[in-house]
Amino acid sequence: MERFLVSRSGPLHGEVEAAGSKNACLPLLAAGLLVDGTARFTRVPRLRDVATLAELLTALGCAVSRDAEAGVLAVATPEAGPTDAPYEIVRRMRASVCVLGPLLARRGLARVPLPGGCVFGPRPVDLHVRGMEALGAEVRLEHGVLHAQAPPGGLRGARVDLAGPRGPTVLGTANVLMAAVLARGETEIRGAAREPEVVALARWLRACGARVEGEGGDVLRVQGVAGLRAAPCAMPPDRIETGTLLLAAALTRGRVRVRGAAPDELGALLARLEADGCRVVRDRDGVALDARDAAPRGGEVVTAPHPGFPTDLQAQWTAYATRSEGETWVRDPIYPERFQHAAELVRLGADLELAPGAVRVRGPARLTGAPVLASDLRASAALVLAGLVAEGTTVVRRIYHLDRGYEALERKLGRLGARVLRTVDDQAP
Ligand code: EPU
Repeated sequence: MERFLVSRSGPLHGEVEAAGSKNACLPLLAAGLLVDGTARFTRVPRLRDVATLAELLTALGCAVSRDAEAGVLAVATPEAGPTDAPYEIVRRMRASVCVLGPLLARRGLARVPLPGGCVFGPRPVDLHVRGMEALGAEVRLEHGVLHAQAPPGGLRGARVDLAGPRGPTVLGTANVLMAAVLARGETEIRGAAREPEVVALARWLRACGARVEGEGGDVLRVQGVAGLRAAPCAMPPDRIETGTLLLAAALTRGRVRVRGAAPDELGALLARLEADGCRVVRDRDGVALDARDAAPRGGEVVTAPHPGFPTDLQAQWTAYATRSEGETWVRDPIYPERFQHAAELVRLGADLELAPGAVRVRGPARLTGAPVLASDLRASAALVLAGLVAEGTTVVRRIYHLDRGYEALERKLGRLGARVLRTVDDQAP
């Protein structure tokens, strides 16, 4: 196992390139199951989750070839093939559930194990199932596996309402959309997620011949087509990686530009940083942040579906808030249990108090390096950020979580002047 040694770093400065988006990439690769011909994806991030999805597609009979260095991945799907997603792969990554819709649409049958719990609370798939049932599929749960079968003649277009108690579902919307593009007739998905990852999926499906409209809004309209033909696809930039890098810059009072980023997808974060006195320059090819004269002032941050403040930046914001003047409330109604990073930040000296679905941060705290344990992907990033401003060295263990979703974060931060070293963890169990 590996760990990070994070040393206190001065203000970050310089420019780095945004990676391709993990959360756009996973459903897009799964959509490779839907198309004839070879789907060629570029700007594919080098991440463990991508390797896991490639493995899953291979198990489903796809020919997958990857040049990870060049960020290219190609998927060719035979018309007929396996319909069982192996539990051994699915249990490693929730996004595996994304093959449910494509398998049902293309092969009429899907057996997908429930991906199971998650370290930051329950993450059900009832809305995915509701969507498939609305399209005429029969779905039952047996021995931990969802067995889904399309009706004779295939899925049928329908009106689907995906609004859940905690707002729209991102992967659920993607899943139902992928099922609907090959269904007979018209589908209307209400309560659809508006996230940029859903927009990217809808656009690529359209490039492949699907008839979809409304992406970016909360109603998607789909006219089913008989078949789709692979079109090239470049992954959009990873807005959460960009946000994390900008927060590292803000925390260290630095000056950083992320090239190839999409600032219009980060409106809520950038507005907050500007309110704290950071200067933000958005342009067509990226975003720059100058925090040299910033004065972080606390306040309240509440996560919300896009275009609100992303839950995937909540932990990193909490790290940032430890250095703000006064009190900050960070609330996450999307995942009220996603606060594992709090106890570890306290080890570094942060003044935090947990409340249901929220954490209160009092700052500015003097942080001092300590050994900490990463509990999940974004929590890991928060600990690295805090380590950049903690005196001495912070040892972040279990960084395999981080590697699921950030492409060599230590190198990117290193290019900006941060001192983050990846080493073998000689104390790992
Ligand atoms: N929900 C249900 N029923 C469902 C599905 C979701 O009640 O059938 C609830 C969830 O429990 C949650 C809310 O709806 O409270 C939103 O969850 P959503 O379904 O949107 O999450 P997801 O699609 O499974 C994606 C990202 C997550 C990100 C969330 C929210 C991917 C691969 N994952 O998950 O990313 O936090 O959307 O924006 O796209 C991450 O990258 O670190 C990460 C966890």
